[in-house]
Amino acid sequence: MSTDRIVGTFTDFFSERGHQHLTGGTLLPPPCDRVLFTTSGMHPLTPYLQGRPHPQGTRLSSVQRCLRTTDLDEVGDRTHLTVFEMLGSWSLGDYGHSQSLRWGYELLHDGFGIPPERMYVTVFGGDGRVGPDSESLDTWRELGLPVESTRDENWWSHDPVGLCGPDSEIFVWTGGLGVPPQGSPTTDPRWVEVWNHVSMRYRRHEDGSLQPLQRPCVDTGMGLERLVTVLQGHDSVYDSDLFEPWMRVLPPLWDLDGTSTRLVCDHLRSGIAVIGDGVRPSPTGRGYVLRRLIRRALTTLWRDDPSRTLSDLPGDVVGHTLDHFRQPRGTSPVREVLLDEERRFGRLLERGRRVLGGQRFEGPLSEEDYRYLHDTHGLPRDLVTTLRTP
Ligand code: ALA
Repeated sequence: MSTDRIVGTFTDFFSERGHQHLTGGTLLPPPCDRVLFTTSGMHPLTPYLQGRPHPQGTRLSSVQRCLRTTDLDEVGDRTHLTVFEMLGSWSLGDYGHSQSLRWGYELLHDGFGIPPERMYVTVFGGDGRVGPDSESLDTWRELGLPVESTRDENWWSHDPVGLCGPDSEIFVWTGGLGVPPQGSPTTDPRWVEVWNHVSMRYRRHEDGSLQPLQRPCVDTGMGLERLVTVLQGHDSVYDSDLFEPWMRVLPPLWDLDGTSTRLVCDHLRSGIAVIGDGVRPSPTGRGYVLRRLIRRALTTLWRDDPSRTLSDLPGDVVGHTLDHFRQPRGTSPVREVLLDEERRFGRLLERGRRVLGGQRFEGPLSEEDYRYLHDTHGLPRDLVTTLRTP
């Protein structure tokens, strides 16, 4: 099943059940938001989950692009991505959590063809303040799926303060077709979580107290890239059709090991999506996240060949990425931003090497040295570390 068909199956399924499909928005949350980027499908819907009526009704679905920097150090493995998409469905005080779980099972089973023996679910087992999620437990038992109860893994909150509630996650066995499922989601990593159904029914206050919402909601999110990888039977998200143009172009262009190829692919693809939403590299905030993505990609590329340049990146992959994220076409502004940042970074590295070559920096560096290098020469700590690594 191609990615397009997977997305189409998801949106059709929910529209047949009365959901209005929202066109996923930008990576930038509204100006008053405390977070730099949209981090989940529900993020743009926060005011509506808090009680404001949504103009399109009480049943919604969307495909939302998201960015998470929490996993940046894991990028380069087979599953973590910086920018990804989330398929989401919501009940704004309409149907309850049990209905959402039943539809979740129906779509994965009938829509995507996943047999029940390859599914496992987890539910919230209670934590002293909130009791066990017996509604979900009963629903799954009725549906005949194996259930595991946990505490912290089955509690979802967008922020330390604000909307939260118990959740139930659906896992799929990825141990290979001939290998019977073993263990459970908490004991065997071959159980991969594909869909999280949150029973959004509390607001957490600064003092940690939980206030029940007047109108409980259901918020579900399913990482598109992970779902596609599982359904297409791959081990790595980079082997799925989503990354086909990138993985066709990058290896012949830059001869890197697997981890480096994946990191460069993720960071450039994510960087293009961020630029496509109007962000430009800068020393703070969103621009700094973009700068880090581009510079980490360049550091990887230049590690064993400083002559590599982003000007070799074909316009096709840039265009493909913008199209995929439904962003305005026009690859040349994106390329200009990438190349401008490459030039700046090249100049900074040159200066860094010159400064660090001085006698003062021969031995181990003190905190004061780092401060001086940063404040006087604009050399951030991680760059200094990179330049001093033999
Ligand atoms: N908001 C929930 C998540 O991101 C569904 O996992």
